[in-house]
Amino acid sequence: GKIPPFENHPFVDFTKKFERDAFPRAIKEVREQLGKTYPLIINGEEVLTEDKLTSVNPANPDEVIGHICQASVKEIDQAISAARDAFPAWRDLSPEERAKYLFKAADYARKNIYHLSAWQILEVGKQWDQAHADVSEAIDFLEYYAREMIRLGNPRKMGRAPGELNHLFYQPKGIAAVIAPWNFPLAISCGMTSAALVAGNCVLYKPAGTSAVVGYTLAKIYEAAGIPKGVFNYVPGRGSVIGDYLVEHPDISLIAFTGSMEVGLRIIEKAAKVQTGQEQVKKVIAEMGGKNAIIIDDDADLDEAIIHIIYSAFGFQGQKCSACSRVIVLESIYDRFVKRLVAAAKSIAIGPAEDPHYYMGPVIDANAQKKISEYVELAKKEGNILLIRDDIPEKGYYVPLTIVENITPEHRLAQEEIFGPVLAIMKVKNLDQAIEWANSTRFALTGGIFSRSPRHLERARKEFRVGNLYLNRGITGALVERQPFGGFKMSGVGSKAGGPDYLLQFMDPRCVTENT
Ligand code: NAD
Ligand code: ALA
Repeated sequence: GKIPPFENHPFVDFTKKFERDAFPRAIKEVREQLGKTYPLIINGEEVLTEDKLTSVNPANPDEVIGHICQASVKEIDQAISAARDAFPAWRDLSPEERAKYLFKAADYARKNIYHLSAWQILEVGKQWDQAHADVSEAIDFLEYYAREMIRLGNPRKMGRAPGELNHLFYQPKGIAAVIAPWNFPLAISCGMTSAALVAGNCVLYKPAGTSAVVGYTLAKIYEAAGIPKGVFNYVPGRGSVIGDYLVEHPDISLIAFTGSMEVGLRIIEKAAKVQTGQEQVKKVIAEMGGKNAIIIDDDADLDEAIIHIIYSAFGFQGQKCSACSRVIVLESIYDRFVKRLVAAAKSIAIGPAEDPHYYMGPVIDANAQKKISEYVELAKKEGNILLIRDDIPEKGYYVPLTIVENITPEHRLAQEEIFGPVLAIMKVKNLDQAIEWANSTRFALTGGIFSRSPRHLERARKEFRVGNLYLNRGITGALVERQPFGGFKMSGVGSKAGGPDYLLQFMDPRCVTENT
């Protein structure tokens, strides 16, 4: 039948009893399944390995989510060989046929949305609404990229010269390695893999270690959709063991990576070197970190600004590439703003994500806890602490919510991605200085401004140079199609996820000219 226009999956609505009740029930049912061992999935077959990684609940590290088999180079070779065999048939399906698999995957995810959310709540400590939003985003990617591929699938007639017929069309690149982060454990994994798949590539998918069980739920989604064997392979593994091998493998023609700048730059460098037997230049799509700022103009509506800054800075514990980690405030409104921000931050309830009473939960693991705590110590040296919330649970990977002022662009707190609930406040004289400071990092991912002045908003539009700029709203939670997402400078080299240019990166264009 006719495909209806794309629409975003609706937000969760807790005024509905049905939705309120669905979460505890799903969490209980998922909890009954914890502690299993998860195989790799290569060529449609389960593959067990000696080496296993244990994934735990960050709110209670004694609770094991699962033991995940870890690929070695042997299993990577097997998966590449399966992908190579599956490629010609998958490539030669029509875009409509491949899109159908994505629609089926979306149906399955919609039906299982509460369970898919519950896995995230327990494995990465996402709050109910945010876990639901993550699964919704995964559904949106499937629905959107399916339609996008159908749009791009028809050969396009070029030019009007008499006596010739020109057609421009796209073909997939081949075998894609998809290397994903843990912080949007289903959405980003699903976005990168579904784009690669619908464009006609075969995929080796490597989830992050701390969210590999959620990664397995993605493998189950594709299995339920009936994706042919070998087309999608689930190959969790340690970055240190298989990362370089996968990236450098001569048969990998495309790497879709989302994660830190350090790992992203390493992948770009490794992928640039041509290996023996390699037949094509590797394409790297790398979406990396941010050091995102919100500007508070002297006429900002503080009722709005405070709520949005709290959510952008501390929602999911500040562990979003899009999170606000700097607030740049004009001096004439500074005292009023800071007083209200600190009061609001004091009221935040901190505890396990599975209990909706808590606004902020634990960070992902012991390494993150240590790294963020070091930044809290650094904040004490570089600035003036306004708030350290050390009233946090002892058990679990909690860190104190921290707000520090007197930060200027020279400070590390103003330049380095912390990826936790540590917010730097920077006081400026006027909008000129605010924009200059906002742009003064290597990153260019998200940004925002609260102002009632149309002229100032216009200036920000032109001069605040980030991938996603938000005027008078929070800076997280980009929606597929409505806010195509991604940055530039050291924040990334890809074109926007959930936008009309995204799929083009997964294909090579061809043009055929016929003399008629
Ligand atoms: P990370 O870079 O530590 O890990 C990302 C992935 O790379 C993981 O799967 C990891 O196992 C793998 N990896 C590690 N070493 C590797 C190597 N040598 N070769 C190949 N792969 C390797 O990032 P993370 O902690 O999972 O995620 C957080 C980071 O991701 C933050 O910097 C955040 O800003 C960024 N991020 C960016 C976006 C975006 O769209 N720009 C979205 C989400 C997260
Ligand atoms: N797309 C995610 C957001 O905007 C990263 O928060």
